[in-house]
Amino acid sequence: MDVTYVLLLSSLGLAQVIAQDCRVPVGGNNMGFKDDLPQTFPNGTKVIFECNVGYMPAGSPSITCTNGTWSPVKLTCERKSCGSAGEVENGDLNYEGTEFGDKLVVTCKTGYIMVGNSQFTCGKDGWLGGRLPVCEAVACDAPPMLTNGDFSPVRDSYNYLEVVQYKCQKDYTMNGSSLSSCSKDGKFQPAPPTCIVVQCKDPDVTNGEWMSGSRPPYKYKSAVTLQCIPGYNMNGAQTQRCELNSQWAPGLPTCEPVLCEDPDVKNAAKEEGSKPPYKVKSTVTFSCVSGYTMTGTRTQTCGLNGQWAPGLPTCAPVLCEDPDVKNAAKEEGSKPPYKVKSTVTFSCVSGYTMTGTRTQTCGLNGQWAPGLPTCEPVLCEDPDVKNAAKEEGSKPPYKVKSTVTFSCVSGYTMTGTRTQTCGLNGQWAPGLPTCAQNKGNGMAIGLGLGLTVLIGSVLTVLGCYFCGVPACIKEKKRKRPVGPALLAVKISG
Ligand SMILES: *[C@@H]1O[C@H](CO)[C@@H](O)[C@H](O)[C@H]1NC(C)=O
Repeated sequence: MDVTYVLLLSSLGLAQVIAQDCRVPVGGNNMGFKDDLPQTFPNGTKVIFECNVGYMPAGSPSITCTNGTWSPVKLTCERKSCGSAGEVENGDLNYEGTEFGDKLVVTCKTGYIMVGNSQFTCGKDGWLGGRLPVCEAVACDAPPMLTNGDFSPVRDSYNYLEVVQYKCQKDYTMNGSSLSSCSKDGKFQPAPPTCIVVQCKDPDVTNGEWMSGSRPPYKYKSAVTLQCIPGYNMNGAQTQRCELNSQWAPGLPTCEPVLCEDPDVKNAAKEEGSKPPYKVKSTVTFSCVSGYTMTGTRTQTCGLNGQWAPGLPTCAPVLCEDPDVKNAAKEEGSKPPYKVKSTVTFSCVSGYTMTGTRTQTCGLNGQWAPGLPTCEPVLCEDPDVKNAAKEEGSKPPYKVKSTVTFSCVSGYTMTGTRTQTCGLNGQWAPGLPTCAQNKGNGMAIGLGLGLTVLIGSVLTVLGCYFCGVPACIKEKKRKRPVGPALLAVKISG
């Protein structure tokens, strides 16, 4: 139905006038006027509404202006319904709705493929989009023949979900899936495989060698385990697999020379010439620093296992032995361990005397320098007292505390102490006695001797005095007072 406004003017109304005009009329839902409305709506004017496109009219479409008032709108406009679109065998019709503007989508059940249009819209005159489609059972054409392979079963056409199995000829490897099925889109899925030649090259690793596993020719999935020759370490995976692309996976390893770590020995220095990297068989020679001594082997060799052989030495401080001097004591304060430059001072015990140097220093060679002293027993000399005899039993050497007892020979008398003891200082104590001639004889001899001297002296003095011998003049002056004194001494002796 065309959209039209029909505005009828009553010639009668115009003639009689006077009556009131109407305002612009208001219609119901989904309706309108066709043309521009006139400026005025005089009495008796008729206005016709029309439904919008897609809407069905019901009731009278016209209203009339009577004395300034429009008659009620009787027209109603309802959305057009397209109703059912029909049926599709092995398909489903999915309605958004069945009224004007609604959409309809047709789908085929699984295993069926659609032929025709699947989308429809409800228009003013029914469903737009043509005839409903047809759902035909899925069928697949035979897959393409394989190069260097085949499949089974072989048919002209395959039903939905039917499966074919592929095989490659001998010496060919399948790249892809061996099974493929007729899928809902009418094609075999997954795509057919290919038959390829897989051949991996000999795994060539410098300083490496075959250890175990497959032997050539290396086909798909061949696996080899490699190893490095002695003195080399593997970097990478030991076991390799031949892959579809004729390459080894995860990738050939490398063999790197074994290196020993830079060795470090405390308190030692390496001899010149040895520097990292330390390959197998390289050597390092150590020297302990001054004051340290080595335990172990000086020269080390880098072994095939990356370890130093025979094993690093150690440098321990040089120590002097705890020195022992017989009959001597160490002064307080010096205790082991005795490192280089430490000192020990000895004192001989009582009754012993030292030969050598008291204070000793521990030398770099671990020896005491200048050399340990000795402590010899203190000895007293063989004592000799004139005109005396030693009592039997006492004989040299005379150690400290040994005694000697003297007896004067007949006719002599002892002055002092008979028994002498060898003292710590090597001297006899309390001091050797003397033996003098007995008193009687002694007086006579003394007197005679005294008189002789006296007479001699007097004669000399007189001679000098009276004769005036020049040689005596000095004597005279000096010795004059001596005469009486000397006389007195001699008489008393
Ligand atoms: C195997 O097939 C895949 C997929 O078609 C392809 O990308 C690949 O290159 C093939 N491999 C070889 C070794 O041919």
